[in-house]
Formats: sequence, C-alpha cells, structure tokens
Amino acid sequence: MQGRRLATTDKIIVLTSPDGGEPLERLQDWAAKKDIDVSVVELGEDIGDAYDPDRATLGVTLGGDGTFLEGIKLFTPLGIPQLGVNAGSLAFLARVELEELEAALDEVVSGRATVDSRQKLHVDAPGVDATGINDVMLQHVPPENPFDRKITRLDVFVDGEYVGQYEGTGLAISTPTGSTGVALSAGGPIHMSADNHTLQITPLQTHSMGVRPIVVSADADIKVVSREQASLLVDGGRAHKIVSGGDVIDVTGAEGRAHVVRTSYDDQFMTAMTEKLSWGIRDDPDGPRELLDDDFPAEEQSVVEKARDVATEAARSAGEPLRELHGRVEDVTVKTNKSDIVTEADHQANKIITTIIENEFPDHAIFSEEAEFKDGSSDFKWVIDPVDGTGNFAHGNPQYSISIGLIEDDEPVMGVIYVPETDEMFHAVAGGDAYKGDKKIHVSNRSELDESMLLSGWDPDGEFLTHFYQQTRGVRALGSAALSLCYLANGSAEGTWEYGTYPWDVAAGVVIARAAGATLTDRHGEPYTVEFDSDERKELLGSNGAAHENILEHLQKNDDLMD
Ligand code: IPD
Ligand code: CA
Ligand code: CA
Repeated sequence: MQGRRLATTDKIIVLTSPDGGEPLERLQDWAAKKDIDVSVVELGEDIGDAYDPDRATLGVTLGGDGTFLEGIKLFTPLGIPQLGVNAGSLAFLARVELEELEAALDEVVSGRATVDSRQKLHVDAPGVDATGINDVMLQHVPPENPFDRKITRLDVFVDGEYVGQYEGTGLAISTPTGSTGVALSAGGPIHMSADNHTLQITPLQTHSMGVRPIVVSADADIKVVSREQASLLVDGGRAHKIVSGGDVIDVTGAEGRAHVVRTSYDDQFMTAMTEKLSWGIRDDPDGPRELLDDDFPAEEQSVVEKARDVATEAARSAGEPLRELHGRVEDVTVKTNKSDIVTEADHQANKIITTIIENEFPDHAIFSEEAEFKDGSSDFKWVIDPVDGTGNFAHGNPQYSISIGLIEDDEPVMGVIYVPETDEMFHAVAGGDAYKGDKKIHVSNRSELDESMLLSGWDPDGEFLTHFYQQTRGVRALGSAALSLCYLANGSAEGTWEYGTYPWDVAAGVVIARAAGATLTDRHGEPYTVEFDSDERKELLGSNGAAHENILEHLQKNDDLMD
C-alpha cells in the first residue's frame, strides 16, 4: 500500500483499552478539526459496524505492543493500514510516542507517511489454526518428575528437506517483526522488518552443534515434528496448545501482509532496539554520531522533477483502488451496474491524485477530467485523466491508464502514465529522456509502411483503419490514447492516430512520446500543439519520426481520392 493514499483518509478506527483516557480524547479532538470520523473499538471487541469498506480508513492502536498485535488481528484481514501509538512503556512496534500523536497524524493524512508491509505467519497443528505477526515458539514442557528429560527434540523439515534435529529448550520460528524478541536473545539475527518477507528458524538453548538459525522464504513450508509433548505458543500466547509426541506442526507465511504506517516521528529501528533493550552500545562518550549532510548529499531537484516524483507516487496510489474495482467489474452482482463502478473508479482515483498534488503544490492549478477546475497562483497547471480507457475498464480489459501531465506556461513539461494492471510506469520530463520504470525507452526506427504496426484511437468512420490495414503489419485500437502514446514511445508501434483528442487524454503522453523521439503533427504535418484552455478535440498523428513522411503521404493520397 502507498503512504500517499492515506491523504484521502476520512475515517479512523481506534483500538484501545476500555479507558482510552486523555490520548483518545486528544485523537478525537484532532480528528474533529480535520472532519475525520472516529470509531472506537475496545480491546477484545469485534470491529462490527465501525468498518465501512467504502471509506478510506486508518487503524490506530493506542497502547503498547500487545494492543498493536491485537490491531494486526483486527485490521490486517480488512486491508486497513495501521499506525501504532505507544501509550505503554516498552514498545518495539507502536513507535509513535504520545507527545507526537497529533503531529504524526498530520503527517499521515497529508500523504507523507510511508506504509511498510509486514510478513505474517500461519500455524497449523492438531487443535491449532492460528495466524501471528511475531513468532511461533515450540518449547519443552517441564517434567513432573525431575529425573525425566529436561530438553526437547524437534525434527525440522523445510519444503520436504530434512534440516536437522533441534535438541534443547525448543525453537522459535519468527517473522522479521518477531526477530527482535525471543529469537534475538537466542542468538538469531536481527532482521530489518520493513518489506522483508522471510521467516527464520532459531534454536533455543540448543544442545546440538548441528543446528543454527536459518532464514527461509515466506512461502517455504516448515514442518516440525515433536518427539515428545511440547508447548506451542503463537505471538506470546495469543494461541496456545500442548502438542503431543509425533504431532506435526506446519508453519508458513500467512496470506496477506500487515500494512504498518511509518512516520518521521517513529524512532529509527536500530535506535529503538538499542534504547529499548538498554544495550547502550551507541553511548559514545563524544555523543552519538550525527548524520552529516555529506553522508547523504541532497539531490538538487527542480520543481518539475519533484512533480514527476509526486506524480508517480500519486499514480501508484490511485492504481490500488483501480485494480480492486477492476477486479470486481466482472462479478455477477455488479455486471448490470458497471457504470457505478466506473464512476467510483474515476472518483477515487481523482480524489487520491488531486489531494496528493494539492498537498505538495498548493499554488498550482489543477485540471482533472473528473473535477472542478482549481485555479492557482503559479505558472504550473496539472492536467489529469484519472482513468483513460474507461470503456476497457468497464469491460474488464486491462488496457486502461492513469495520465498525469504538468504544464508550465502552456508548455507540457512533465508526463506520467501508469498502467495499474501491468504495473508499468511511463514518465518523462521535457528536455530529458523518456522512461518505463527506470529503463530509458525510445521510439523504433522502422520507416516503411509494410514493416510498421500502427495504433488508432478514436477513428469514427474507420478511415485510418481502412487506409492503413492492408498497407502495414496491422492497425490496433487500444482504447486509451495515453497508452497509445506510451507504446509509440516504447517502440511497440511506429505510429498512432487520434481523430480527436482532449488535452487531458494526451497532456502527459506528448511529453513522454517527444522525449522518446516521436514526431507529433496533425494530418497535414503541422506540428501538434496542445490547447489547454479549450475542450475542443484535436487530431493527432504521432510517429517514430522515421515513418512520418510515409504515413502522411499515404493519408494525403487517400484524402485526395476522397475529394
Ligand atoms: C478516451 C480514450 C480513447 C480515445 C478517446 C478518449 P476516456 O478517453 O483515450 O482511447 O480514443 O478519444 O476520450 O473517456 O477513456 O477517458
Ligand atoms: Ca481520456
Ligand atoms: Ca477519463
């Protein structure tokens, strides 16, 4: 999940102990000022009516790590991102301190926080079917008779391969989040937990030289067979069972990741670790080493470059709900009401993109196909089509895109086009190169019609198709003008034709196509200019440059024949 997406938060569900006290009141006061609705769920309660899937919801836990872990159980299955506020004393997970509650929340709803994904694990054993965020511990059960065995023997297999016999107090299987607890004190490695999707198996007080902590992928199937009874604990007792000798305990990464919101008010991970475990290893007599500017030389960014970065983040954030809604288009229940889904898609994507841009560039004008024009005092104007290729979207066809362009004094200077279904991000800044992700893209160099593939957008009388279908390797109609320009830029087509485009269809695409070497004109070869203050449709012939003359000539020949 993209942190930028949280800019549209309009609902907070707080999980807290029965008396939330002053911290809860502070949170409620803050939310009232922002016009954000708050529901309170007390520990142990179900989320019930507090959750409305149509609202952009943030989960907040007020308490220590125990409350945070309960929050994971409550919020993760619903995909709700979670911010942990530490109202306890020792917390590794809930890392926003109370004093910074309001400042951290401000950061979250301005879209400037990040969201990291945390691996969860799932345990299947006789009588246990549990999901945890931290760890599974299998430990020796103290014998009633002091002469009996004081250690346990566990055989471990990963994806069917025998790993070894864990002889000792037991073992811990932990996620990177849980690696900071028991596993660490047993000599396991520290795992930076953000976006780390692995599991680790750590022997506890091992009596055997042959087993060491090992890290496996989150989809590995870990099987532990206990030779005698053993105590099984998930997340420090959130599930508990005494398993019998011969039982098989199956552990693997759980489906769905926890979305943990991180703000600049969080302790840094290693600082939190060293402070909270009182390691003191950072207590340098000369004081801690400050980061120097030279350590991370700040990148000098122009407004347009910053705009490109914000636009790519906004597009990715808007892509999340679009993918979700697109996946529902073909549901039997919504089949008859596709227009509702399309309206919702336009609305959600537009809201996310415009909120993010407004937060970062409050003085820029914003024009979106799906919103009222917002005027601005600067020379910059954003031109946005939140969903280009609506017809495709409504039919469950993946060829739709998000188009975000920036205009400076009537010149298109930056373009970002994102294809949510294929996760392709096209972008360019005028005067620079064009990119797909981090790879430079360039138009093709084919010049002959019979070796060219052409694209066509709106072509009401099928004129372009008729003229070129036989002369070329084919004419394809993609259904998204923005995407056609990207394919031209990418070298996947030699030319593209739109009988009439609106500025929001092409504002971003012209920057990308030009930066990739494309030539853009009308059907007579006159250079294409985007008229941003008009909602008139304009024709657009784009090509790789090499084939332009041949396409124009052929069009002209056919025009003459028609006269
Ligand atoms: C349309 C698409 C289509 C193009 C039309 C546009 P929309 O935009 O880009 O490919 O040929 O001219 O209006 O309605 O899907 O945003
Ligand atoms: Ca459009
Ligand atoms: Ca549109």
